Amino acid sequence: MQKSSIHPFSATIMAWYAEHQRELPWRQTKDPYAIWLSEIILQQTRVAQGLPYYERLLAAFPSVRDLAEAPEATLLRLWQGLGYYSRARNLQKAAQMVMRDFAGSFPSTYDDIIRLPGVGPYTAAAIASFAFSEAKAVVDGNVFRVLSRVFSVETDIASSAARGVFTSLAQSLIPTQDPAGFNQAIMEFGALQCTPSPDCSICPLLVSCEAFSAHRVTEFPIKSKKTKVKEIEMNYLVIEQNGQLLVRERVEKGIWKGLWEFYLLEDQADWLPFSRQALKSPPVHLLSHRKIHCDAWHVQVPDNFALAIPEGYRWMSPSAFESKGKPVLILNLITDNLDCPILQDISPTYL
Ligand code: ADE
Repeated sequence: MQKSSIHPFSATIMAWYAEHQRELPWRQTKDPYAIWLSEIILQQTRVAQGLPYYERLLAAFPSVRDLAEAPEATLLRLWQGLGYYSRARNLQKAAQMVMRDFAGSFPSTYDDIIRLPGVGPYTAAAIASFAFSEAKAVVDGNVFRVLSRVFSVETDIASSAARGVFTSLAQSLIPTQDPAGFNQAIMEFGALQCTPSPDCSICPLLVSCEAFSAHRVTEFPIKSKKTKVKEIEMNYLVIEQNGQLLVRERVEKGIWKGLWEFYLLEDQADWLPFSRQALKSPPVHLLSHRKIHCDAWHVQVPDNFALAIPEGYRWMSPSAFESKGKPVLILNLITDNLDCPILQDISPTYL
């Protein structure tokens, strides 16, 4: 393809990107392993929050082999605070698959990359383009917003047709001579310029943007279905005896499998027999499909009382509990519940 055949939209956002891009470490490398790691971290995490995790994980596991062979608990501890722990588990499964099925060398085509656990069309396109210059267009929330506005795409982004519609459009715009530059540019443009509440007065696409001409910028992208958020209640008892805490590792399938928590009562707050300590736990924890009302009570069990230990739970010292991976919800309790003395022996964050 000739340079002259670059679509004006693509030329404009790439020129904008040359001037406005943020310097981010995963943009300074062509190593597919490092790029993959960054993209998995950034799937549900903001750049500022993900950056230190990227640096730490790459330092702890400099190669795909290091990650494949790491104890899962070490990985989960490093992942602590990022949430969505299935990402960490899939990360390791994928590393093991690279060792087994690709002889330790990271797959180099979109079709092979997308076979890795935890890698969908977006992530596969990002890695294939950034590391291997394959002309596969990325489509994520930023891309939906930019393209729907500039080209006035009325497709409902919650519909099953949306990904196909936007992928075809993005694919028709990607220049084969610099797919990586185009993909970085459109995402960065969505992140910094074409935001949910944009300042269109400084936009280089002002004159060609169909949504702007129609005074409909903030109507795009069109999204009908609201994700249903389920409300649940979680009440933790921080049970302490002889300086030890009653804790367990979550074994049930779900986002917190393998992480550690205190004694949990779900939806039973009405008949809790314990008087409430003045614990300052955050009352609400939001996940993408859950609104969790979380509270905690401190229960000091007398040293000589023979407590029947519920199944799955065990006693653990605060220092041993500190080294375990824990859901953010638990970290918040540890941070906030300063009236519960034993929690002060636990550092709430990894750093
Ligand atoms: N979000 C997802 N991927 C990204 C990238 N490569 N750069 C910045 N933000 C991102």
